[in-house]
Amino acid sequence: LKNEAPSVWKYKDLLPVGIEPVSIREGGTPLYKCDRLAKKIGIRELYVKHEGMNPTGSFKDRGMTVGVSKAIELGMKTVACASTGNTSAALAIYGAKAGIPSVVLLPAGKVALGKIGQALMHGAKVIMIKGNFDDALLLVRELCDQEPIYLLNSINPYRLEGQKTIAFEIVDQLGFTVPDRVVLPVGNAGNITAINKGFKEFVTLGITDRRPKMTGIQTAGACPIVKAIKSGAKDITPEKNPETIATAIRIGDPVNARKALAAIRESSGTAESVTDDELVQAQKDLAQLEGIGVEPASATSVAGLKKLVDMGIISKDETVVCVTTGHLLKDPEEVISVCIEPVTVEPTIEALRKAIFS
Ligand code: F0G
Repeated sequence: LKNEAPSVWKYKDLLPVGIEPVSIREGGTPLYKCDRLAKKIGIRELYVKHEGMNPTGSFKDRGMTVGVSKAIELGMKTVACASTGNTSAALAIYGAKAGIPSVVLLPAGKVALGKIGQALMHGAKVIMIKGNFDDALLLVRELCDQEPIYLLNSINPYRLEGQKTIAFEIVDQLGFTVPDRVVLPVGNAGNITAINKGFKEFVTLGITDRRPKMTGIQTAGACPIVKAIKSGAKDITPEKNPETIATAIRIGDPVNARKALAAIRESSGTAESVTDDELVQAQKDLAQLEGIGVEPASATSVAGLKKLVDMGIISKDETVVCVTTGHLLKDPEEVISVCIEPVTVEPTIEALRKAIFS
């Protein structure tokens, strides 16, 4: 590995793109050592890989720099995706940079404000679907089958190629050691599949000699993968009405479910679900103990880690990396709804003192 700072294109020899990439400096996100949070959870060594520090504020940029570059290489003229929000923001920005139109289908009323703002401002055609994410994904697949439009959901293998660089960076940033475990939120189940692939490739290339246990976290209201892992089922049973405050992973029928189940099982990992209350607590802990601002879905990683340590499934001696997938500013409405309201006072020193000290 070259002696340069981590970023998606540092690893271009392992990425299937043959042209100058469509890039906005994605990847190279910080890996924070989180001692205060580790202490609260009760483990020895905890790191947080903060993917919220990407250009659009989520890990989706890694997949889209590769996916849109590939679209250009293949001569595609229009790109599209269904999304719970972050994928649409990333598609919009890379479509803009590449100079091709993008179309995004979103579940009406269930996408965080910041993400819609990004998709709109970067010039995507934004279409609200009267249905959930799973409905939108079925529709966009049908559209792309019928029209010359390139589908950039995580069914597209090039998306996962970009996202596997999270694994490369973790190894790189830990000084060529491999953590015992990687914990991350699971929605459509692409990212856990991609990160597992990255760790496997480093073993194949002889760069590392082992792989971490891949551990996927979902919410209690949308957890088909967790149910399949716990029951030992070959495949998931889709959930018809997924519901959670973590709208990014409000998904009942993950398209990469089979690959994700394989990634979890072959790495000796596990899956667990957390409640909305548990993930909000973890979101506050990340923000207030470590200065890491994340959106609700991302906090499931830390909430899930805490639960698995409490249950005795994760040992206190493990070195763990939690991936926080999206930035706090993605979902300001959720923040307002879970934090104490600010007080409004008269512009006098007496009123100010009263507000602060009483
Ligand atoms: N965290 C965030 C912040 C996400 O936006 C997503 C997925 C995930 C985790 C789960 O990743 O789908 O690879 O298992 N968001 C998709 C979207 C569905 O449309 O933005 P996954």
